[in-house]
Amino acid sequence: MSEHRGGNAPAIETSGLVKVFGDTRAVDGIDLTVPTGTVYGVLGPNGAGKTTAVKMLATLLRPDGGEARIFGHDVRREAAIVRGMVSLTGQYASVDEDLTGVENLMLLGRLLGHHKTAARARAAQLLEAFGLNDAADRQVKNYSGGMRRRIDIAASILNTPDLLFLDEPTTGLDPRSRNQVWDIVRAVVAQGTTVLLTTQYLDEADQLASRIAVIDKGKVIAEGTKGELKASVGAGSVHLRLRNAHERPEAERLLARVLDAPVQADPDPVALTARVGDGDDGNGAAPQAARALAELAAAGITVDTFSLGQPSLDEVFLSLTDRPADLTTDTTTDTTATGTLTKETAA
Ligand SMILES: Nc1ncnc2c1ncn2[C@@H]1O[C@H](COP(=O)(O)OP(=O)(O)O)[C@@H](O)[C@H]1O
Ligand SMILES: [Mg+2]
Repeated sequence: MSEHRGGNAPAIETSGLVKVFGDTRAVDGIDLTVPTGTVYGVLGPNGAGKTTAVKMLATLLRPDGGEARIFGHDVRREAAIVRGMVSLTGQYASVDEDLTGVENLMLLGRLLGHHKTAARARAAQLLEAFGLNDAADRQVKNYSGGMRRRIDIAASILNTPDLLFLDEPTTGLDPRSRNQVWDIVRAVVAQGTTVLLTTQYLDEADQLASRIAVIDKGKVIAEGTKGELKASVGAGSVHLRLRNAHERPEAERLLARVLDAPVQADPDPVALTARVGDGDDGNGAAPQAARALAELAAAGITVDTFSLGQPSLDEVFLSLTDRPADLTTDTTTDTTATGTLTKETAA
């Protein structure tokens, strides 16, 4: 860790951060405060401005407006100090496809100034920790997607950074590889590194992050702890399909009463979707969903399929903006989400 950290400065503090590409305001006035020692989640769809924001914070792109400080150091005026404190997967850590896993880590270790024995020891330690021992002597170009993500992260923490940017580290990975990356992120934070994680998945932000900012079209549209976010958008999402379409209106009323939440009639005439909160007892969504199922059965309504999951990014956006994540309409409409989540108003 660098000697520049210290004091009480947050890991990241931005105000009115802006980046413009031609007509596109990729980042359009972002204010963020990321406390040290935590995972901070930035949740947003494709094109929201996540990568552009991360690149400015990592000094790879120059802001067109506003301010950003990393542990109190300005990304423009003190770029060299900032660069010494941050690491960004897939950017600084340039993994060479033709080299093996161990060769890559040793080469980067030597470039960072470690002696050969120290570089070898650190490489071995990381390969072990990241479950890549068996792949250590294979060329990286023959790695699976999950292994590739893991070697990228390993390379970016050869020297323990104060702040690690993980830009969509699990997009496109299978569930098992996602879980491995999540374990790695937890291990990195346990060593004292602050992590800024961008993602398109609410469940990923929920698993890893303590606070979450939801961004859309370069703006923060909601910010808070994950508890606040869930109080606002619902802890769970129930999907069910009925045997008979004519029973849907009754099922809809019953669900709305039992769950005390809005119920949505889907385009499919037998399908219903409802958001479920954490319940008054704070026991989570599952007991409430179970109660709802039992009442449907008692009312003689046949349910063919049923699932309970976390709200998707689309549902988060519907709840926050009254439109799906990928729709391009203006965001000036006021929204009605409840809870203590701070909602930013569009300019
Ligand atoms: N180098 C660039 N030149 C022009 N437009 C860009 C460039 N980088 C990003 N953009 C645009 O800025 C917006 C935000 O992109 P990006 O930051 O990559 O979003 P995200 O990472 O959330 O998917 C998009 O509309 C994208 O097309
Ligand atoms: Mg991106």
